[in-house]
Amino acid sequence: MSRHQPGVFAEDSSHHIFLEFAVPDPPAHLPCGTLASRPLAAGSEVVAFGPDLVAGLADLHPPQGSRGFSAIEGVDGFTAPATQHDLFVWLHGEARDELFARALAWGDALSRVATIAREDHGFRFRDSRDLTGFVDGTANPKADARLDAALLSDGEHAGGSFVLAQRWVHDLTGFGALADQDQERVIGRTKPDSVELTGDAMPKDSHVSRTDIARDGQAVKILRRSAPAGGIRDAGLYFLAFSADLDRFDWLLQSMFGVSGDGRRDRLLGYSRPVSGSYFYAPPLDTLRVCLGG
Ligand code: HEM
Repeated sequence: MSRHQPGVFAEDSSHHIFLEFAVPDPPAHLPCGTLASRPLAAGSEVVAFGPDLVAGLADLHPPQGSRGFSAIEGVDGFTAPATQHDLFVWLHGEARDELFARALAWGDALSRVATIAREDHGFRFRDSRDLTGFVDGTANPKADARLDAALLSDGEHAGGSFVLAQRWVHDLTGFGALADQDQERVIGRTKPDSVELTGDAMPKDSHVSRTDIARDGQAVKILRRSAPAGGIRDAGLYFLAFSADLDRFDWLLQSMFGVSGDGRRDRLLGYSRPVSGSYFYAPPLDTLRVCLGG
């Protein structure tokens, strides 16, 4: 039986809360026993640790390759900032009030050791579309391939997962000024029904072209769990993804930002910019419970 945190895969949530905490002096034990002993019933929860906590928590051995997010200086002046935080909580489900109460409980439990460094509230937009109007998640791995993409498979870390959390703010006015056919060339899929463009119709700088990549003959697969987020002044995407291997995030971002070798960047960068960036590690559920004092 897999030991993963079930919230990684729970789908179709209408509401999301993403909390990133700063933990200035990482303790050996977290004071969250009450939360650990009373799992969230009205939704799903994923908890993950930044590299300083991964290294400092007494009950966690760092998985190979654990590290923080590094800023990216891309071509044409496009950049991705590093805002590495220490503890990540993702709450999602249908009952927004219960998710909110749980978020408050996390803030209370951690108040002696941590401060909230980022808080984003996300939501499902229509039939799982990004705010650009395009379906987000179509090419995500399905069935067992989701486990292969997202989860470490060996030893004490089996069921654990690396996490990329990156808030993007869209230029919806700029994107909306493009004709629908041109928007489709930016993304690489049709807008109404998310069919991938093919042959000459697929631009080399479309988002799909820059992210449907292979490394050493192997497709670079991650599990994306992003949600539209923000208000009308900072509308965008809370990009959230899980991977068995942290390097995959680097390869995808390098390809998007034009620093993977061919100098070509993702055209989507002209219409959305990342304003945060952290890597976390979501340990298997049993390990998490011990780390939280449960
Ligand atoms: C503003 C930010 C972003 C938006 C609005 C966005 C939106 C989309 C959309 C609409 C698709 C096509 C439908 C689908 O397969 O889901 C897609 C595909 C994809 N995106 Fe993004 N995305 C964003 C950022 C990122 C980032 C930061 C990464 C990786 C680090 C990424 C990785 C991927 C991958 C791997 C695919 C599937 C490619 C394929 O195999 O066809 N995206 N994204």
